[in-house]
Amino acid sequence: MAEKPRTPRGSSTSAVHGGEREHQQSEAITTPIYQTSTFWFRNSDELIAYQEGRLHREEYGRYGNPTWKAVERKLCELDGAEAAALFASGMCAATTLFFALLPAGSHLVVTSDCYRRTRQFIRDYLMRMGVETTVIDPADTKQLENALRDETALFFTESPTNPYLRVIDVAETARICHARGAKVVIDATFATPVNHRPLDEGADLVIHSATKYLGGHNDLLAGTLAGSAETVGRVRDAVGVLGGVIDAHSAWLLLRGLKTLALRVEHHNRSGLRIAEWLEKHPRVRSVWYPMLASHPDHETAARSMRGGGGVVTFELDTDLDGAIRFTDACRIPYIAPSFGGVESLIEMPVTTSFWDLDREERLAIGITDSLIRYSCGVEDADDLIADLDQALSAI
Ligand SMILES: Cc1ncc(COP(=O)(O)O)c(C=O)c1O
Repeated sequence: MAEKPRTPRGSSTSAVHGGEREHQQSEAITTPIYQTSTFWFRNSDELIAYQEGRLHREEYGRYGNPTWKAVERKLCELDGAEAAALFASGMCAATTLFFALLPAGSHLVVTSDCYRRTRQFIRDYLMRMGVETTVIDPADTKQLENALRDETALFFTESPTNPYLRVIDVAETARICHARGAKVVIDATFATPVNHRPLDEGADLVIHSATKYLGGHNDLLAGTLAGSAETVGRVRDAVGVLGGVIDAHSAWLLLRGLKTLALRVEHHNRSGLRIAEWLEKHPRVRSVWYPMLASHPDHETAARSMRGGGGVVTFELDTDLDGAIRFTDACRIPYIAPSFGGVESLIEMPVTTSFWDLDREERLAIGITDSLIRYSCGVEDADDLIADLDQALSAI
């Protein structure tokens, strides 16, 4: 866990310098990878001083490691948080948080378009633990108000959401939830702390799948949590028991990836907007969802609270399932792969990936049509991505 820095600085400066320079081993400019499972004590007095809380240091790899701690300090700066914690994956951050903060008999409110494994965890595991859940439509504050109960402990939503990139009015959401004693947790994976900082607007906790933009190179799995020292501390205690800790090498890759976060996100923002505007004019494209387009249902909230729309553009083709598959297969630059937020562009059809667990009727009921495409632009040249999309659209 790490303390919030006294002087706030820009996201690029925080991304490069946050959390660094505290390792003790040498004058190396990069934080070392502490590839160790345990930490030794000079004598029993030292061990007892540690147990009694008089000495702060590492003990065992499931409770902490200096490489992760550097990442956590950097995240505190980036998310504007008092404390941050790192996990083996985004799913591990979410499930550990639910285990730690939802006692039996409590109530959870979530949005219908949450990441599919989050939905599965809620359905298959939380129910068994005696936690009741109410599912509401994304960005619908009226439904949220009606869903809250005296025993509601948490409201959990992504922002932007998948795949329609709905943007939550965090300040209004926090006002509604806090009036009923519920905490607000925002999964801001699609936003990154460069584009949106939910804690500044009153959210209690923010989580990220760092597998996406934070790592940024499609080469690691990690998850993060940031918020007050008290709440993050409770979740951190739970990870020490549940065991979903990140390994030191992945933590180091994340530390390295984070240094270019702001640069990469600015590039994603520019390319995302250009591609969204280009697609909106294309005759083979029925509709486009991108928060920075005036046509997006949450454009006003996004324009007010977000610095950019990010690299993911969702669009519906004017064709059927086969036409959408032909288009996807004809793209030459993006890989067909789940995930987003890395330097390589990726393309996927929600029908064959994140909403595969639903049958067609269920998918259509929540607006997931057969010809929906989720395109995650990487940091390639936008001109090349557009030329590639153009040739693939002619394959429909
Ligand atoms: C918004 C969102 N949150 C959480 C996750 C889970 O993250 P991870 O794959 O790092 O476990 C994903 C994965 O795709 C996601 O899209």
